Amino acid sequence: MKIIFQPDGKSATFTGSINLLEAASKAGVLINAACHGGGTCGKCKVQIIEGNLPELSQSEKKALTLDEVEGGFRLACKLVVENDITVLIPDLLGEGDRKKALTKLPDHFKQDIQIRKQYVKVKRASMKNQKSDVKRLAEALNISDLVVEPKLLYSVSKSLKSKKAEVTAVVKDHCLIAVEPGNTEEHHFGLALDIGTTTVVGMLYNLHTGEMIDVESRTNPQSNFGADVISRIQFTRESSENLEFLQKRIIQCFNEMIQKFSVRNTFDPNCIYDVAVVGNTTMSHLFEAVDPESLAKTPFVPVYCQGVNNLASDLELSVNPLANVYFLPNIAGHVGADIVAGMLATNVKNLPGVTLAVDIGTNGEVYLGNEGNILTCSTAAGPAFEGACIRHGMRAAKGAIERVLYQRGDIMVQTIENGDPVGICGSGLIDAVAVLLELGIIDKNGKMISAEACLDLGLSQELCDRLIQADDGMAFELYQNNGRTIILTQGDVREVQLAKAAIMAGMLTLLKEEGLKMTQIDRVLIAGAFGNYIDKKSAVKIGLLPDVGMTKLINVGNAAGTGASMALMSEKVRNEAELLSHFVKHVELSASPIFNDEYMNAMRF
Ligand code: FES
Repeated sequence: MKIIFQPDGKSATFTGSINLLEAASKAGVLINAACHGGGTCGKCKVQIIEGNLPELSQSEKKALTLDEVEGGFRLACKLVVENDITVLIPDLLGEGDRKKALTKLPDHFKQDIQIRKQYVKVKRASMKNQKSDVKRLAEALNISDLVVEPKLLYSVSKSLKSKKAEVTAVVKDHCLIAVEPGNTEEHHFGLALDIGTTTVVGMLYNLHTGEMIDVESRTNPQSNFGADVISRIQFTRESSENLEFLQKRIIQCFNEMIQKFSVRNTFDPNCIYDVAVVGNTTMSHLFEAVDPESLAKTPFVPVYCQGVNNLASDLELSVNPLANVYFLPNIAGHVGADIVAGMLATNVKNLPGVTLAVDIGTNGEVYLGNEGNILTCSTAAGPAFEGACIRHGMRAAKGAIERVLYQRGDIMVQTIENGDPVGICGSGLIDAVAVLLELGIIDKNGKMISAEACLDLGLSQELCDRLIQADDGMAFELYQNNGRTIILTQGDVREVQLAKAAIMAGMLTLLKEEGLKMTQIDRVLIAGAFGNYIDKKSAVKIGLLPDVGMTKLINVGNAAGTGASMALMSEKVRNEAELLSHFVKHVELSASPIFNDEYMNAMRF
């Protein structure tokens, strides 16, 4: 039996029947499975475009609308395939590479790349010069105490045997990392990796010129085993093999990226000599295959915080086997290396006045810079803005509604890459709630009004007709066409309230800890791909960002990726990262009475 996965065109053959989610995993195709195959999240929805299927299961009947059933949609986790089929995975439609354009090294940054490539002509051995190959290479390099790993002795001897004995040595401090025949000075690469809970980004740098030459972003392949950090930690506890399994998944994902980079830019991946990695504390533990269990229970203590230097070959990362893979330090159980990287990229320690910075993701991380003092916290915003617990939520990929506007008495939607609407992503969600608040369709407590009450408000018939009764209360129809309906439910609005309240309460708690008021804020830095695409006015309207004036709300792009890139290219930045991880004061919100009060207040719109 053959299953073809579109739009990638990947296919796999199986004997006997197989669960579609399992088949996809075996075929290396990612399907969003936020509830882990429990049949409750509805995220593994796929469209069967060819083939005969069995009856709908009970969970499918619950999760799918009539239109979806007619359109061939099924839950991958509940579908057992027995015959050849072709499946369309909606989330993979043009996976938005939105982080690509968002990494820019700051103007103040000065690179100081420690790894150098040096092309030299090595003297031939003779009866008059019986010095060893290593000694003659060291002399040509002018490094008297050159350290050569035993693993490299073979390639030293092999390259010196070439006709002209002209070689390029790759050296860090006094250590030889590689020796290559001929002049390969220009093939000098490094990788900066940013592991998000949902999305991972790889940035390829030419370490000869300091330029970024390629970027790849993908869904974190671990997300099939838990949408957020807690469920992923839970997965590691289910079996002793799962921790290593998750580590292998992320390494395999990076190896696929590296393969793409090398084909697209025609170079040998062995010419990648240095790697810097960031991610939250859980991602860091999973990358190092260190048990993250303690991060999921009080007092949320990580196993380690310091930066970790790994040998690429130990991780089985397909770069030069002697390349160093440096994972930046963490600050606390839920404030990780990605935030340290963000602090480096935004230079928060040296900014004058009061700076509030927020990275909105599954966890909302906030930090406050006050004349050189830095406080930080992490708030459990939940995956609402990533679309995970929203009825028609999805990631920022082609076809996701990213803008919702009120025009000429009705609602208009805009989608990513102008694709046919298939769901709503975080920025669309914020707009939708903001617009409905503005119109009075959602009240200050987050309650959605009925169609009758909408008419009473004097709103247009078109708008009122969009208010429908859904299974869990009122819902607002954002889009309806070609058998596809995208709604915003009362439950979705509640999820947005919880998420925005958590982030705002985190910000207010840090301000209070420093004895500061909102009016004293000089700037609010919005980090992360998501932050870059939200409409700031809408975000202020729903209370996700503070109302400090539009000019003080500044997008800083993928600050975590930028910080990782800076660490890749500067030893000084790595040292600063280690210092920051000790220096920054972490505020644990679960133990903060201020946070609890602020959170309750911030629930209202
Ligand atoms: S419903 Fe299938 S993974 Fe959640």
